[in-house]
Amino acid sequence: MQVISVQSAQCNYDIHVGDALLQSVGKVIAQKIPKARVAVLVVDQSIAQTWAQEVVASLQDAGLSVVQHIVKASEENKSMAEVEKLWRCLLAARVQRSDVLCAMGGGIVGDMAAFAASTYMRGIATVMIPTTLLAMVDAAIGGKTAVNLPMPSDAPNTNLAKNMAGTICAPAWVASDVRTLSTLPAREFRCGLAECVKHALIADASMLAWIETHSEGLRAMDPARLGELVYRSASVKAAIVSRDEHEQGERAHLNLGHTFAHAIESLLHDQVHHGEAVSIGLVAMAAASQAAGWWPEADKFQLPKRLADLGLPVKLPCAVDAGQLKSAMKLDKKGQSGVVRLVLLKGVGHPGVLDAASEQVINAGLDAIGA
Ligand SMILES: NC(=O)c1ccc[n+]([C@@H]2O[C@H](COP(=O)([O-])OP(=O)(O)OC[C@H]3O[C@@H](n4cnc5c(N)ncnc54)[C@H](O)[C@@H]3O)[C@@H](O)[C@H]2O)c1
Ligand SMILES: [Zn+2]
Repeated sequence: MQVISVQSAQCNYDIHVGDALLQSVGKVIAQKIPKARVAVLVVDQSIAQTWAQEVVASLQDAGLSVVQHIVKASEENKSMAEVEKLWRCLLAARVQRSDVLCAMGGGIVGDMAAFAASTYMRGIATVMIPTTLLAMVDAAIGGKTAVNLPMPSDAPNTNLAKNMAGTICAPAWVASDVRTLSTLPAREFRCGLAECVKHALIADASMLAWIETHSEGLRAMDPARLGELVYRSASVKAAIVSRDEHEQGERAHLNLGHTFAHAIESLLHDQVHHGEAVSIGLVAMAAASQAAGWWPEADKFQLPKRLADLGLPVKLPCAVDAGQLKSAMKLDKKGQSGVVRLVLLKGVGHPGVLDAASEQVINAGLDAIGA
């Protein structure tokens, strides 16, 4: 097992990465949250009858009274309606401030359940048990919790307003058991891999080289390789959020490729998953970095080939109007209205923020992905 420590203003916490963690969840909770009597396990429906049962047994063995709450993972269910259902479940189970909620599943269940836990009785302890690669290396780290809101009726598109309500609240512990990844659909696995590449580009070239060297073992889901991948990638995010928990500066670097990705997702949400949009967005980012004069050597780095070799998409899957993408980028909530703010690279391991990207820089990015 490997341990990553995260600093937070509320309390520091550990991320454990290993392949036999589910069986010891109860024991670790008994040590870290000794006053807990009730453990509410909020779990993704797709793993409720399988992986979750190991956690239930472990919690019971540790003498905790266990309540299971099953949630179907969908962006529609990352909602206030589901939060209220969960709050009512906590109330019915007489959950006290000293008790614990375990959020087990991908980022959807994690974000929603952790939001409910951070607000129930003004906050009860949360243990994150991520079971997707994306959640292990990204969503479960950094304390951001969220639900989506319905778009106002006069908004330009009909999607959900993603992550518009939430809190920043440190979990008590994160347990990433990489065995759970063995049942993850390959497409979801690759989506997580795109975020790992993003972390490598932010951190240093050696991590990307490691991913490339071990791509075969990773595709075969070799647990030893997966443990190392999660450990390395989660360490990058953990270090950044430890330095900048509230996104005053450096945490924004984690949005590398994401302004392009969010625009792609907003137009092609029924075709492209988030991680796929991130992969395409990273290609656009590299071209934009070159056009901005930040990374003159970007094309020599051959990021599109490297991503394609990992089975990730590097172009838009169908014709999309560049103007529509630009409008969507101007609406991205991380930018100020009408101004496109891009996280770009000055080279691998050297991210920075370009506050007002020119049309020429944006066009270079869009051109590279076939818009
Ligand atoms: N809080 C943050 O900082 C943060 C960061 C990044 C993303 N997010 C959020 O994370 C969400 C996406 O998370 P995700 O990619 O994990 O998606 P997800 O939660 O939808 O999970 C992907 C799919 O895998 C299934 N699944 C989960 N674990 C499984 C397993 N072990 N075996 C088989 N199937 C399994 C789920 O049921 C789902 O169908 C988005 O809502 C995004 O906004 C949050
Ligand atoms: Zn992302």
